[in-house]
Amino acid sequence: MKIAITGALGHIGSYIIRNMALKDSKHEFLLIDNFLTQRYVSLFNLPKNIKYKFLELDVSHSNLNNLFNDIDVIIHLAAITDAANSFNNAEEVERNNLLSTKNVAETALNTNTKIIFLSSTSVYGTQKDVVDEDCLKEELKPQSPYAETKLKEEELIKNMGNNGLSYVCCRFGTIFGTSNGMRFHTAVNKFCWQAVMGQEISVWETAYDQSRPYLDLFDASKAFEHIIENNMFKNETYNILTQNATVRNVIDVIKNYIPNVKIAFVKNKIMNQLSYEVLSSKFEKTGFKFKGSLSRGISETIQIINSSNRN
Ligand SMILES: NC(=O)c1ccc[n+]([C@@H]2O[C@H](COP(=O)([O-])OP(=O)(O)OC[C@H]3O[C@@H](n4cnc5c(N)ncnc54)[C@H](O)[C@@H]3O)[C@@H](O)[C@H]2O)c1
Repeated sequence: MKIAITGALGHIGSYIIRNMALKDSKHEFLLIDNFLTQRYVSLFNLPKNIKYKFLELDVSHSNLNNLFNDIDVIIHLAAITDAANSFNNAEEVERNNLLSTKNVAETALNTNTKIIFLSSTSVYGTQKDVVDEDCLKEELKPQSPYAETKLKEEELIKNMGNNGLSYVCCRFGTIFGTSNGMRFHTAVNKFCWQAVMGQEISVWETAYDQSRPYLDLFDASKAFEHIIENNMFKNETYNILTQNATVRNVIDVIKNYIPNVKIAFVKNKIMNQLSYEVLSSKFEKTGFKFKGSLSRGISETIQIINSSNRN
């Protein structure tokens, strides 16, 4: 099977281009990234005996028709992803992310290629305790420009689905777990980094006991395999998450490895009073089992950075 991955060098991409390849060495990978985040390192030491082709391209405006012509599945990851910072570059986030999704999805439609589209559970903003994919429209209240754009991208994909596009829309929880191109501006990874470096863990003032969905990178990669192997391109949206947790839960796990962590409560524009759990039962009903855990991802993350701050 030929798989094209946009944004292939990022936190998620750099993991799946290794792990999905090892699962089935017959897959061939077309890797596309514009080096927006300079993760050249993600291309180093890829598994041997697997066919990769890397192209440096901006998918928001490049002509992709010839590239996707013989591709079976596109995993579209390319995006500007720092939600908290998106208040400072909202226009660019909307331009890059919406145009990228529009161009990639239109090409998928033209070339009759199936697409996995990456959305985020940050499209939710509900007053309820629990939310699922069938929620009312008013429970989709994105709390950042990044998440607002994700919702617009979802809408665009859905409309194109009505015109013949075959897609799966994955609302991922916040990723944790290590990869070659991992980033540290999301909660779990950032907290691990700060704890190992002896810094105070910076927690948004309202967030300590608010519940949010998290996704182990291990489960994320398995979810892609599950979707492709079961040919689930029936234009459905799925919440994909390993578990819901509060920041207190996350820090309690970190304390198992680094007992003396200190917390600093800070303000951020993305803060709100909402606390909700996201259900993943729709995806589990397709036969998928989440096997990752916060303790797995946190211990792995602390382990890889620990050597840089030995006292
Ligand atoms: N990491 C998470 O917690 C999380 C959660 C939910 C959804 N997602 C979504 O999953 C996808 C991948 O996330 P990630 O964590 O790997 O992000 P990342 O920021 O680590 O990687 C994104 C990659 O896309 C590339 N890119 C950006 N714009 C591009 C363009 N126009 N053309 C080509 N390449 C471009 C960047 O250079 C980068 O390598 C994104 O769509 C993100 O919104 C991520």
